[in-house]
Amino acid sequence: MPVTCDVLINNVQLASMQDNGKPYGLIPNASVAIAHGNIVGIFAATDCPAIAKNTVDGNGAWLLPGFIDCHTHLVFGGSRANEFEQRLLGQSYAEIAQQGGGIRATVAATRQASAETLLHSALARAKRLCVEGVTTIEVKSGYGLDLATEIKMLKVAKQLEDHLELNIITTYLGAHALPAEYAGRGDDYIDFICEEVIPHIAKHKLADAVDVFCEKIGFSLAQCRKVFSAAAAHGLRVKAHVEQLSDLQGAKLAAEFQALSVDHIEYLAAHDVGCLKAADCVAVLLPGAFYYLNESQKPPIAALRQHNIPMAVATDLNPGSSPISSILTAMNMACVLFQLSPEEALRGATCHAAKALNLHKHTGKIAQGYAADLCLWDITHPVDLVYGINQYRPRCVWQGGRMRQAV
Ligand code: NIG
Ligand code: FE
Repeated sequence: MPVTCDVLINNVQLASMQDNGKPYGLIPNASVAIAHGNIVGIFAATDCPAIAKNTVDGNGAWLLPGFIDCHTHLVFGGSRANEFEQRLLGQSYAEIAQQGGGIRATVAATRQASAETLLHSALARAKRLCVEGVTTIEVKSGYGLDLATEIKMLKVAKQLEDHLELNIITTYLGAHALPAEYAGRGDDYIDFICEEVIPHIAKHKLADAVDVFCEKIGFSLAQCRKVFSAAAAHGLRVKAHVEQLSDLQGAKLAAEFQALSVDHIEYLAAHDVGCLKAADCVAVLLPGAFYYLNESQKPPIAALRQHNIPMAVATDLNPGSSPISSILTAMNMACVLFQLSPEEALRGATCHAAKALNLHKHTGKIAQGYAADLCLWDITHPVDLVYGINQYRPRCVWQGGRMRQAV
């Protein structure tokens, strides 16, 4: 009985990222049938019952899920190249932040920029991710801090979907830095976030989750707890920048609130990793920030493996700690700097990144019923993708079953 579908991709090696006991979820010599934007069947290429109007011969190339960059700050105004220079001359990231630079410098530039200017620069960054086969990008706010600019950022982020074929997930990161107008009044700013911004964001569905920066130069545990409680009260899931520069025990707090993910975690103690398991929380590794800040403390990878915590890998694309618009480079860095295996890195930018965004039931794998967000690569093995830097581009990309136009 033939199966009719919209698109049939024949003769491909699948790095499906399924948990089928094979490295990369390998399914050799396969055909993938797509209908209504979803994968409706995976068959042996030699015995495929599917017929389609649109058939693509993969010629034995590798088909992978589209990449998911699950942690970016890619909407922002201005540049912080000057701080790169300052850090090379000996100042630390925290010192620059304490002097009013860092995140607050970008806040000033982002408040000044029009929505059009922000969209224009964000589009250029998102395009660079897309050309490498990224099909879903999470974008955080957090460079506006006041209500109007946070809304401007979140709307600009979502507008990227009108200009590029990709999925955007938005996160409200009000507790990123203390804005100048609240200097010395951190708790008042937190009250503003909880009482005014989160209710507005929830009501108008402007963000899919709420994030915080739990750090000495960010917000305290008690302040982050308030933000998480307000998010939960409004039905929003949480995630958190924790243990990036010091160990404030932010991961434990995030786990208490069933956070989708804890991100950075260089200073997370190995003996505290267990809390993530019970919370079903993803550890998001951001090797770009580790690299740019010339950090030497590595995340507790062995303990994460031991507790079987899913590890995601993302670019953290932002103007300060990680000006990297390349998911392939982030994966390479996760291997070289954190000793992830290539399979861990590739799962980190597909199925585990999907879990960090709560999308794992329908994206991030090549499996029946999943969204047909797919990339076809002319490589000899998936390791090729993380081995070199700037070596490969996908032959073609499908976004929700539609073949993407050249970006
Ligand atoms: O993920 N740690 C806080 N937030 C960003 C950096 C933002 C910035 O420096 O502009 C990060 O590293
Ligand atoms: Fe970040």
